[in-house]
Amino acid sequence: MLILLMRNHKGEFMKTYTVAVLGASGAVGKAMIQALEERNFPLKRLVLLASERSVGKRILFKGKEVFIQKTDEHSFDDCDIVLGAVGNDLSKKYAPFIKKAHALFIDNSSAFRLEDDVPLVIPEINGTDILHHQGIIANPNCSTIIGCIAIYALHQLSSIQSMIVSTYQAVSGAGIKGMYEYEKQLEDLTQNKEINTDVFPYQIVSNVIPQIGEFNENGYTGEEMKIQNEGRKILHAPQLKVNCTCVRVPVLRSHSLSMTLYFEKEITVGEVREALRSAQGCRLIDEPFYPMPLDCSNQDLIYVGRIRRDLTSSKGITLWCCGDQIRKGAAVNAIQICEKYIELEV
Ligand SMILES: NC(=O)c1ccc[n+]([C@@H]2O[C@H](COP(=O)([O-])OP(=O)(O)OC[C@H]3O[C@@H](n4cnc5c(N)ncnc54)[C@H](OP(=O)(O)O)[C@@H]3O)[C@@H](O)[C@H]2O)c1
Repeated sequence: MLILLMRNHKGEFMKTYTVAVLGASGAVGKAMIQALEERNFPLKRLVLLASERSVGKRILFKGKEVFIQKTDEHSFDDCDIVLGAVGNDLSKKYAPFIKKAHALFIDNSSAFRLEDDVPLVIPEINGTDILHHQGIIANPNCSTIIGCIAIYALHQLSSIQSMIVSTYQAVSGAGIKGMYEYEKQLEDLTQNKEINTDVFPYQIVSNVIPQIGEFNENGYTGEEMKIQNEGRKILHAPQLKVNCTCVRVPVLRSHSLSMTLYFEKEITVGEVREALRSAQGCRLIDEPFYPMPLDCSNQDLIYVGRIRRDLTSSKGITLWCCGDQIRKGAAVNAIQICEKYIELEV
């Protein structure tokens, strides 16, 4: 598929880009392709890459069929931008070849997120960090994106010193295999069959599992430390302290977070509501309603509600937020990074 020239909404000609989606058959890769189409990204050519298992599978893009190709070291040779939607090991494996091809690598894995020369970007918050890229820009963890979008406008009111967070993470956070395992367990449970586990450490249907990722020496999992470590980098708040518990719940799509925020100064519930009404990327859904994963799926805003004063501290505010972790928590944020990159012309 070749688009030689493309006009923007003002009718001006725009530069177009050859974009590869690495992991095009996965949960995030598919959502990236959908977002490229929905947002009318200025594409010259779309290259779809996955493993040998997916070779020849077709994906419809703007009414035309695009075939998935096997990934190898030469797959990126003519690309301007590579959108990574594979695991850490594959991101690390292919990064040198992407660099050799002089393509920009926007990576969804956690392989490079905390490296000093890799901007970690949520465009609504720290889009200009892109200016410092050295070929790789990292997309943050999905719960980190959802949480940071929900709190950023409040952090402008008064600096957030610390937070206590619990996440309620959907099975699709573990990719296509996670969704498949949940649906298979649901079917086996209703048919009184034996339930097998592979992706999750225990049965997820009719259960909640307070473990996502491996445990560190401090008793927290890798996933739990991401909100603090990545949040500090995104918010430019190196002192931020986060105490997080991540829980997998039997929900197909969209993560939810309960967050108690401790501010430098006292702020009122009214001020919080007011700030969230105009916060970029947020939708306030408060009293008598509240956000739920079913309602916020398949769209790109983070829904925020249940705003109340913390009962243990006058400087604390508690809230609840939900967001589609495959779209804004991964795919759409990556495309927004591309758009910002084009806008900044770096
Ligand atoms: N799911 C989420 O909510 C979410 C949110 C934020 C970030 N992420 C991150 O995004 C990345 C992708 O996650 P996902 O959930 O989309 O995973 P997924 O559904 O399991 O998809 C994995 C993709 O990797 C491809 N792949 C596997 N082996 C490959 C190989 N040897 N060469 C090339 N491609 C290969 C798969 O292709 P085949 O189908 O051919 O095997 C598939 O396209 C991960 O780093 C994940 O941590 C995920």
